[in-house]
Amino acid sequence: MTGALYFLALLSSTMASARVGLWGQGRNGTGDWEGKRCTCDAFLPSSTFPVKDLVVIEQTAVEITHKLELEMGKLETYESKLTAYAEKIVNLTAEIERMEKNPDSYTEAHLQDVKVEIKQVEALIVELQASIQGSTTVLESLRVQVNAMVVTLTKLEKTHDKNLVLVTRREYTNIQLQLEECERRHQELFNPNIGSCAHTGIIRVSKPFVSQLNAHLNSGYKYGGWGKDSKPVHGSESMYWYAGYSSPSIVDIKLYADYKNLILRNNFQHHNLQSGWTGTGNNFIVRDNTLYYQVNNPFSMAKLNFTSMKYDYRVVPKASSRFSYSHSYSQGFDFAADESGLWVTYASEESGGRLILAKINEPSFGIEQERQTSVYKPGVTNAFMVCGVLYAVRTVDIQTEEIFYKYDTNTKRESYVSISFERFQETFANLDYNPTDQKLYMYNNGYYVNYHLWFNHTTKATDESPALLS
Ligand SMILES: *[C@@H]1O[C@H](CO)[C@@H](O)[C@H](O)[C@H]1NC(C)=O
Ligand SMILES: *[C@@H]1O[C@H](CO)[C@@H](O)[C@H](O)[C@H]1NC(C)=O
Ligand SMILES: *[C@@H]1O[C@H](CO)[C@@H](O)[C@H](O)[C@H]1NC(C)=O
Ligand SMILES: *[C@@H]1O[C@H](CO)[C@@H](O)[C@H](O)[C@H]1NC(C)=O
Repeated sequence: MTGALYFLALLSSTMASARVGLWGQGRNGTGDWEGKRCTCDAFLPSSTFPVKDLVVIEQTAVEITHKLELEMGKLETYESKLTAYAEKIVNLTAEIERMEKNPDSYTEAHLQDVKVEIKQVEALIVELQASIQGSTTVLESLRVQVNAMVVTLTKLEKTHDKNLVLVTRREYTNIQLQLEECERRHQELFNPNIGSCAHTGIIRVSKPFVSQLNAHLNSGYKYGGWGKDSKPVHGSESMYWYAGYSSPSIVDIKLYADYKNLILRNNFQHHNLQSGWTGTGNNFIVRDNTLYYQVNNPFSMAKLNFTSMKYDYRVVPKASSRFSYSHSYSQGFDFAADESGLWVTYASEESGGRLILAKINEPSFGIEQERQTSVYKPGVTNAFMVCGVLYAVRTVDIQTEEIFYKYDTNTKRESYVSISFERFQETFANLDYNPTDQKLYMYNNGYYVNYHLWFNHTTKATDESPALLS
């Protein structure tokens, strides 16, 4: 049946991008910089300062921001459309297979119906391709505009009082990050390598992408975490979670349908942990709609499944509560998820405080494959997993953090590396990788911060990151 053959060709050309739609996140282009826009108005013109130039830049900033928001909204639409098409294609393919196996049970009318549906999907794909090409053009022109503004700002900085330009420049850095994010997600839709481990590890970490202060709007809530489910249940692919507190403990957690609702502080679920089940520390994560965290009585790993609302716990006999990360305390267990599953790290008396990495068997909630590393836990600020490799992080100075160590569970080799990245605020309580979007999530003194990662791809170079303001 030629229809089926043609259809399968269509299918294979669509599925690669459709997968990203399923992984996609509901990020909108609104950051906390909204409302801070017209800061220039606060400055009184000095006799020589070219206020007009700054006003023009400000106006352009507002325009670019607006266009960027529109593009981000479109990306969200593309992603959900791709998800819907993918489902339709799966259904149609199954239908065609059934028809091929049993041609006699179908009438000509039925066949016509299926053909019409195929035509519809085809038309939708053509439409989507056209709109995405349009989007690329818009992003390119925005990039040109931003670059031109940077040149103007740099010129102004050289010839005039630096402080006057600073606020505008900070806004521009935000716009640039936003644009970078938009371009990256756009690329991701068509060049997906999410879920792939065909690389030899992290080579670079982006600048911090600061969303905003936590949902309590309180910078005293410096303990906690935020992020996305690393293995979302169907329909929750865009969900975000947040839990924060003024001490290293966890008493409740809020779930948001998507990024927009996180930013609007509009949670769709708010779970207060039952008494006796409140946790300690901050290195909790959400996976498979389940919160994994630490409890202290007895000192153990605990989980709360939001689907069944059931709690459970496991004592890890060797694990000690005596060793915590530098700059944060009560971090006995640090949970991490990557492309290969769920992991936990801790230290023991036996290991002399050195970090032990173990895999968590998700169905049984037991630990297996324990491995001792040579890093001393109290000298480390945090640790996370990517593609079966443990990365440990330490503080360099007031604004710099460094990934300095890695342990590869595949080769059982450890090595020292140096990948520096910038912190937004001085201390952080929670740092974790999420395999669904290949990002690092940091809870940085109450702020939601994330980072894009660049990997050393063995097959193809990916050092194509756009230049940022220096
Ligand atoms: C993104 O945010 C803007 C401004 O708040 C809003 O108007 C727009 O509807 C949002 N887009 C989506 C897709 O949520
Ligand atoms: C695909 O099939 C499932 C199960 O039959 C159905 O629930 C769903 O609505 C179908 N999706 C589309 C897009 O036709
Ligand atoms: C959570 O509960 C649901 C429903 O009982 C179950 O299907 C799922 O496997 C559970 N997940 C975890 C991680 O416990
Ligand atoms: C990337 O991987 C290649 C091959 O393993 C290696 O030779 C190279 O040094 C790596 N680059 C970085 C920046 O780590």
